[in-house]
Amino acid sequence: MTPALELEASLYRALHRGRPGDVDFYRRAATGAESVLELGAGWGRVLTALDAELPRAVGLERSPALAAMARADGLDVREGDMRAFDLGERFDRVFIPYGGVYCLLTEEDLVGALRCARRHLMPDGLLVFDAWSADAFHAEAEAWDEQLFEAVDEVEVNGERFSVSERTRWRKPQQRLDVSYRFTPTAGGESFHDELPQRYLLTDELPRLLERADLELLVIHGGFDQHVHDEESEQLVVTAQRPA
Ligand SMILES: C[S@@+](CC[C@H](N)C(=O)[O-])C[C@H]1O[C@@H](n2cnc3c(N)ncnc32)[C@H](O)[C@@H]1O
Repeated sequence: MTPALELEASLYRALHRGRPGDVDFYRRAATGAESVLELGAGWGRVLTALDAELPRAVGLERSPALAAMARADGLDVREGDMRAFDLGERFDRVFIPYGGVYCLLTEEDLVGALRCARRHLMPDGLLVFDAWSADAFHAEAEAWDEQLFEAVDEVEVNGERFSVSERTRWRKPQQRLDVSYRFTPTAGGESFHDELPQRYLLTDELPRLLERADLELLVIHGGFDQHVHDEESEQLVVTAQRPA
């Protein structure tokens, strides 16, 4: 792996630290399961906890650099694309944590991933995914196009500190929110850029999308404390089932 790819993966890892309570939520969602598959496993943040408790925990990740990081920590993370994959086995649970579903930029990509998730589930097995809740944001009357870079965080990688700024472009009709990150070494030097295109989902769409993948929507929670989702909710936490 080139040093540039390694640095990009390390910056990604330093910035994407998850949401409070999400790892515990997924541990609870795995109660009674023997096997779990995580799609978009990243560097193994959630899978590490699942791997410690379950006989079988497998991850799938598109980024070779992030998958390599997870494997270096002893996790079984394969390189692959959740829109089309076949691992040749079935799991009690399939999880897509922390906005992984928003990385799927068209409805066909999303339905492709949901169908693959279904094929990898045992009968009655559960698919669980979470992302930020977009309903209230989408309902905002005034859509904006592009913002200026705005400082959002500071991270440290290999002893070097970087200030992180973010710029988003919102295309409301497409439900697209394209985020650009700029990482600037605080000691001076060249900045790095990373792009995170997202297509967010609205709760109204979920029954139809899941049905297209022959999955049954069981519940939509509004947070990891499992309150029922409403318009105030900050999280969208979806549980669906593969019919027997
Ligand atoms: C927000 S991160 C979540 C990482 C990890 N699940 C966690 O909770 O920390 C989304 C992950 O999905 C991966 N990803 C995006 N599109 C993918 C695809 N089509 N197939 C597999 N992985 C994908 C990204 O590379 C990234 O690691």
